[in-house]
Amino acid sequence: MMRTQVGIVGAGPAGLLLSLMLERRGIASVIIESRDRATIEATIRAGILEQTTVDLMAELGVADRLRREGVVHHGTILRFGGRNHRIDFEGLTGRVATLYPQHEVLKDLIAARLAQGGDILFSAKVTEVADVTTGRPVLRFTDAEGQARELHCDMVVGADGSYGACRPAIPTDKRKDYLRIYPFGWFGILCEAPPSSEELVYARHERGFALISSRTPEVQRMYFQCDPSDSVENWSEDRIWAELQARIAGEDGFRLKEGRIFQKNIVPMRSFVCEPMQYGRLFLAGDAAHAVPPTGAKGLNLAASDVWHLDRALGAHFAGQGMAMLEAYTATALRRVWRAQHFSWWMTSMLHRFEGASEFDDRRQLAELELVTSSRAAATALAETYVGMPYA
Ligand code: DHB
Repeated sequence: MMRTQVGIVGAGPAGLLLSLMLERRGIASVIIESRDRATIEATIRAGILEQTTVDLMAELGVADRLRREGVVHHGTILRFGGRNHRIDFEGLTGRVATLYPQHEVLKDLIAARLAQGGDILFSAKVTEVADVTTGRPVLRFTDAEGQARELHCDMVVGADGSYGACRPAIPTDKRKDYLRIYPFGWFGILCEAPPSSEELVYARHERGFALISSRTPEVQRMYFQCDPSDSVENWSEDRIWAELQARIAGEDGFRLKEGRIFQKNIVPMRSFVCEPMQYGRLFLAGDAAHAVPPTGAKGLNLAASDVWHLDRALGAHFAGQGMAMLEAYTATALRRVWRAQHFSWWMTSMLHRFEGASEFDDRRQLAELELVTSSRAAATALAETYVGMPYA
């Protein structure tokens, strides 16, 4: 049996950032994580950090490598009608986005937490989230050696992703799940090639959406809209390049620099919110509470914003100010969550090909892209959500 103040399930961005923030307040926490460290540090996921997330990492003293190796994106490209249209984040908002892959963020956060002497129990599976409506919640888990153990805590934070044990610990009659499944997915590749563009390219094409992103000067990340039930085995390297080239082709002659493809995966697309994000002394954060389609690059950033609010509320509680801020956590966090839901849905709708779309729908979609890339007001609305508004 172990005891701590805040039991955190999940060593993803939400759980790790929270443990670092709580440490600053002198609040003890223990993280229980089902995967091993090497798997977490090697799993390729998102890539874009809001300015707001970068600022938070800097404040926590974990942004040194991010500053050296992260690539600042002063703007982004919306491509349609075979031409590039730039959104100037910096000119419109004074803020930027940073390309720094999620697994690199996680490496930095794990190293920082362990250097503080923090407890992260890897390869430990939570089997029961118990007694969260009492004053003494318990996390029952199996540790890396297969031993059944208990973590007794004052508060539990469920930061264990979409398929973790924490959300199901809220009885279904005590929560409402909002879900939208999109009829397409993203086919993602990693390839050995030089960058094709200095900034990300979000491309709308009659054949479907494509996104040109990057990882390092030698490794590029690209995606194209696909059938979510398709299989990566159906796609040879040649077929992938032909499809990607077709989707970015245009009168300006833009071409992708090709190279050996060494990873392929298909990402399903859905929008999801669980309300409330609290049940007694259990608080959900990040993907445990919500999911967004990847188009707006918001998933990781929302995890950071959830725990920023949670840290303040837990701080108030442990400083003897009671549960009021914790009771307000759902409402406080959800304002940004729903804004990001709208943004991710909007970016997805504006850029993807929907089966059965009429010619009217096509023209309306193009008119919307014209608006966003020609009106300063509309472009600013996109830019300020992309780079992230301050939390407070
Ligand atoms: C990446 C993913 C996104 O969903 C996005 O909007 C931008 C970049 C990426 O993996 O690089």
